[in-house]
Amino acid sequence: MKDAAKQRLIFAMDVDDFASAEKWVTQLHESVGLFKIGKQLFTKCGPAVVQMVQERGGQVFLDLKYHDIPNTVAKAAVEACKLGVKMFNVHALGGLEMMQRTVAEVDAYCASAGIERPIMLAVTILTSSTEETLRGIGIDRPVTEMVPRLARLAKDAGFDGVVASPKEVGLIRAACGEDFRIITPGVRPAFASLDDQKRVTTPADAISAGATALVIGRPISAAENPLAAAGKILEEIEAALEG
Ligand code: C5P
Repeated sequence: MKDAAKQRLIFAMDVDDFASAEKWVTQLHESVGLFKIGKQLFTKCGPAVVQMVQERGGQVFLDLKYHDIPNTVAKAAVEACKLGVKMFNVHALGGLEMMQRTVAEVDAYCASAGIERPIMLAVTILTSSTEETLRGIGIDRPVTEMVPRLARLAKDAGFDGVVASPKEVGLIRAACGEDFRIITPGVRPAFASLDDQKRVTTPADAISAGATALVIGRPISAAENPLAAAGKILEEIEAALEG
């Protein structure tokens, strides 16, 4: 059960230098399933930081949210596979052809290399976007319609799941079924501060609502005892899985 909970905890490694990343991986690799490396850390440190996580026994969620023409995204995704990442993502707004082509090229590469396909996720509508943001780019549809629509498009393209707000889990489950992964940030255990997250859910509620895994950063990194904070979150996830 401990391992089931661990696989559902993704640490958002939002640091901007190699040494800090190294420190977090050393401290947390036995408590968290994956380390999320985003645009800032990857732009600063490159593939070496991915390798460092793997050498220390951790696995990587490469959060670069690819969005480009189909050929470019497919080729970038194959490079992510070559780095051995466990999970990576694209923007579903890139469209069906972009996602289908990415699935096809990733599948072909992984088959030829004899490696397991990484978990492929799509971002639907960023939670920082409001209806006003969408109107500004010419999309006159509510976020509650766009999110399940884009999630369904990702599923139809052969993607494994989406990154979404815990508040959107129900809509996405209804559109995409039970075996679709939903990874949720915006999670705050009762003991942590809200930071700049406005609409938050506890780990237990997110798991009970149907989230597959949780992305959590500051409630662990800003805690007085990060290892203990991760432990408490694992306990909460475990209890929700059992309940
Ligand atoms: O520190 P905190 O737990 O808020 O970190 C959450 C992580 O998830 C950050 O890396 C943040 O960029 C990311 N994220 C988010 N909300 C989204 C998408 C990603 O907080 N909608």
